[in-house]
Amino acid sequence: MSGLRSVKNFGKVEAEDDAVLDYFVEMNITENVDSQDTFLVLGRKGSGKTALYRYFTEDKHKDFSSGLNLNGYPWKVHEKIKDDGVEYVESYVASWKYLIAVEFAKIVIKLSDRYQMTEVIELKKFLDENYGTSNPAIKNIFSPSGLKISGDLEPQVLGCKIGKISLTGRQDNMQLGSELNALTEKILSYVKRISEVSELERVFLHFDELDRGITVLETSRKNLIIGLVLASKEIKKYLSSSSTYFKSVVYLRRDIWDELVFSDKNKISESNSDFIEWNHEQLFGMIQKRIGVLLGAEYSWDDIDDGRRINKQPKWKHIIDRTLMRPRDVISFMNTLLDVTKKKDDDELVFENKDVVESRPKYSNYLKLELDDEILPHWKDWEVCLQALSRIGKIYFKIEDYSAAYAVTSSKNQKTYSDAQSLEELYNFSIIEYEARSGYGGSGWKSKFANPELGWDSNATRFKVHLGLKEYMKLKEERT
Ligand SMILES: Nc1ncnc2c1ncn2[C@@H]1O[C@H](COP(=O)(O)OP(=O)(O)OP(=O)(O)O)[C@@H](O)[C@H]1O
Ligand SMILES: [Mg+2]
Repeated sequence: MSGLRSVKNFGKVEAEDDAVLDYFVEMNITENVDSQDTFLVLGRKGSGKTALYRYFTEDKHKDFSSGLNLNGYPWKVHEKIKDDGVEYVESYVASWKYLIAVEFAKIVIKLSDRYQMTEVIELKKFLDENYGTSNPAIKNIFSPSGLKISGDLEPQVLGCKIGKISLTGRQDNMQLGSELNALTEKILSYVKRISEVSELERVFLHFDELDRGITVLETSRKNLIIGLVLASKEIKKYLSSSSTYFKSVVYLRRDIWDELVFSDKNKISESNSDFIEWNHEQLFGMIQKRIGVLLGAEYSWDDIDDGRRINKQPKWKHIIDRTLMRPRDVISFMNTLLDVTKKKDDDELVFENKDVVESRPKYSNYLKLELDDEILPHWKDWEVCLQALSRIGKIYFKIEDYSAAYAVTSSKNQKTYSDAQSLEELYNFSIIEYEARSGYGGSGWKSKFANPELGWDSNATRFKVHLGLKEYMKLKEERT
């Protein structure tokens, strides 16, 4: 008996609610964040950013790292803490640097046993005076109308000591950045001294969910996100001489990163970021790990599968082919498959091909909704393109089919894109693949995730809709 009936589900599709650390699959990114230059983790929706964030902020990493979940963060309050003395895209760097400095201060105060050290006493006093606690919540960092600074912590700007920095109600914000930067440097120098004297090995911050709740990606939000990334970079540089290893790590959706424009972006992409990617074997490994934990270490896929192939493939491969190579898609499919399978009264429950087929429509609906969440903030009429694909009614289609169908479905709407541009966008979100012909008479389907180095081919004429959308869009599989 495989015991499949006793399994409630293969996990929750959001890492926040999932027991992900019980069956965490290590990725090559883990090492890069832990000890290399990576401070920006990029990934598609559902690819495992929060899973990684939890890995780095719980269990063995808990003591020296702080997890800062920006779900529900008061973006509108932070939006006003704007430095008008610098380029527009950099107007939030100073405020984020201050916030990061305060978060580092909170950790080193907690970890240090040097209660009598002047720096510890002064930092605590500063936090107490301004926030009423030496452990203010991240959502309150910019709630005071101003910051009072006294003692040695008091910074100087242009030779003058500043005892107070007004955060709200200022005449102008031209000086706000230099005042905050002066205070931040003071705080960081204290943080550095405390952690070195206390011989702290590492102090990490992790920022997740910067993208939560975005329905339209506004310029102010873009600049706030850019600000956090640039602040993380500057702080890393500022503290690089310390014997303690400091880092502020940002987790961000790739589609949002792609929309940001600022001068250091390429450099950061090249040197300081990592993109979460999964292949078939890793995703299958993730399923196997869950089976081992949920059913018992002696169990594996072969115990819950009847061994029959579906379209000449093992079932797990058939399932993964219907995902966008993201663990959330895989877990979602597996949970539906489990529900379907459990409806049978067999004593010896195993997955059968008919169960997989029966699971596909519900999974396909899930995939469409997940894509809506991802695509709508960038492209509000992407549905028009889906309608065009539905109109064609086939998985495989030619460019002229699409142009004709798109002309019909987009006629009532104001078009964001021409038919050619919309195909490229569909490709960018992995909704379609194109056929590439090689010089040797062969051809192959190219998708954004399987062949990222190839890019879009504007001369392509034959396309294929992603298999996961087949049921939602009621497409037939015949070739044109
Ligand atoms: N390394 C991993 N090991 C095991 N399970 C994982 C791993 N990464 C992700 N998962 C699982 O995949 C699902 C989706 O992951 P997660 O919620 O972290 O995605 P995300 O990138 O944060 O998505 P979103 O952009 O919607 O926040 C969760 O159920 C999570 O537990
Ligand atoms: Mg997440």
